[in-house]
Amino acid sequence: MTTKAIITGITGQDGYFLTRLLLEKGYEVHGVIRRNSSMSVGTLALLEPKLREQVHIHYGDLTDANFLDDLLGAEKPQELYQLAAQSFVGYSFQNPSSTYDVNIGGTLNVANAIKDYSRNTRLYFAATSELFGQPKETPQNENTPFYPRSPYAISKLAGFWTVKTYREAYKLFMTNGILFNHESEVRGPEFVTRKISLHVARHKHGDTSVLELGNLDARKDWGYAKEFVEGMWKMMQLDEPDDFVLGTGEVHTVREFVTEAFREIGKVVHWKGTGLDETGISESGEVLVRVSPKFYRPLESDNYRADSTKARLRTHWDPQVRFAQLVKTMVQSDLTKA
Ligand code: NAP
Ligand code: GDD
Repeated sequence: MTTKAIITGITGQDGYFLTRLLLEKGYEVHGVIRRNSSMSVGTLALLEPKLREQVHIHYGDLTDANFLDDLLGAEKPQELYQLAAQSFVGYSFQNPSSTYDVNIGGTLNVANAIKDYSRNTRLYFAATSELFGQPKETPQNENTPFYPRSPYAISKLAGFWTVKTYREAYKLFMTNGILFNHESEVRGPEFVTRKISLHVARHKHGDTSVLELGNLDARKDWGYAKEFVEGMWKMMQLDEPDDFVLGTGEVHTVREFVTEAFREIGKVVHWKGTGLDETGISESGEVLVRVSPKFYRPLESDNYRADSTKARLRTHWDPQVRFAQLVKTMVQSDLTKA
């Protein structure tokens, strides 16, 4: 029998890789897309036509409980990946209400639709390392206390607890993936890694503008998204639902990402000054990078390092892509597009 899965957030980064993975595995893939005036379909447009044509599209919004009730009642999929979210941490400080509406309300709607209309559907919920906010210990695993530091993180904490509570109260297969940062060549352009790789590619092609960034000292555990969706799928194949941390265990600063990205196009960056006065300068004295307060957040959440021992033991998830390779993949991909 063909396994049916619904992916919410199919037009985002993870939706792209998960769609590919599930189609490769022979799944019948359904995706939820919210309508927009230009009828653009995000990363779905990047799939080869023969793959895209296989995806069953359902137009709807996560904040619409009736839509989700009808969808679950009609499709009764074996698996549902709840990836849809307002996922940009910076934006959540400016727009906390809409972030809560989608990330809390939308996740509650999904959980209720499963409980009421499709109890055998297994749910994966996209929780996040942002739950740790200001980590109380390093590295972080499933037992590390949460300390959210943004409206986004608070909303994901509510989603996390909704999933856990429904799992225990109603005996449903609902799993939380506490995923650390994962990036790729289809990452949204406002996230710092893609902002850097796109800029470096344009620079190589002659753009002389200066790259403006916020906190260069932010330290993140960055992995490759393609490998992280494999981890999501593996969690869904276990006998029991649970909560799992996924991350590489390797940590780098934003500054290191910039240095590595420029190295990829043969430029050495020398860092001068501190704080808002810091600049990244080329060997010939050209200013490549400058700091702008515009990209600082009211609170920073960093110093992450994942301890994925539980997932590695239980699911045999074993990411191979390391930092330098990730940066290379992103810059090389953008060089072909810029
Ligand atoms: P993303 O690229 O920002 O994609 C988010 C998706 O959610 C998009 O498809 C978006 O649709 C959809 N969406 C937003 N609001 C919606 C609504 N009201 N109704 C229906 N769909 C809606 O995010 P991602 O990087 O793929 O991440 C996937 C999930 O994992 C997110 O929940 C994110 O918070 C979480 N997460 C990500 C990371 C990471 O490092 N990437 C780490 C931990 C957790 P549009 O195209 O219409 O905007
Ligand atoms: N976006 C952005 N732009 N971030 C910058 C900039 C800049 O110009 N300069 C420095 N940063 C720093 C941010 O302050 C943050 O510490 C870090 O770079 C990464 O920022 P983002 O790429 O925006 O990602 P994020 O870590 O805040 O959130 C992503 O990862 C989370 C997992 O920990 C998102 O994908 C979330 O949805 C996800 O939960």
